[in-house]
Amino acid sequence: MPSVTLRVNGRAQTLDIDDPAMPLLYALRDDLGLHGPKFGCGLGQCGACTVIVDGEAVRSCQMPVSAAQGKEIGTLEGLGTPDALHKVQAAFIEEQAAQCGYCTNGMIMSAAALLAKTPHPDETQVREALAGNLCRCGTHVRVLRAVMRAANV
Ligand code: FES
Repeated sequence: MPSVTLRVNGRAQTLDIDDPAMPLLYALRDDLGLHGPKFGCGLGQCGACTVIVDGEAVRSCQMPVSAAQGKEIGTLEGLGTPDALHKVQAAFIEEQAAQCGYCTNGMIMSAAALLAKTPHPDETQVREALAGNLCRCGTHVRVLRAVMRAANV
């Protein structure tokens, strides 16, 4: 059985896998027990599965696990801690920017990737960064407010 070594949230872990083409999302959720990234559409269209790979917001349902080897993968679990939230997480709480919460992982990870590169984006940049993250509850206005709050910290 082939194996892959993934570096996730700063820690290298080797997994036995049946299929190198398996989505990274499945390895994160099923093999590593990281349930921050969600399975929404499985088609790269909703953003619920977003993780950060080498600094870029990536749809983990679309990245083969083999392609993730050698890269720095960040999931929601590695972003902050309950005692030291990432500023995007803190802003989401302040703005109550979730309803059902299914999209929240993707929203936060996309925003965190943006702020890591562009610490003080304007609203247009935030809208562009989050354009691929869908919310069926309609929290987009609160999400936008939260990311702008984090951008101004
Ligand atoms: Fe990956 Fe929807 S589950 S984009």
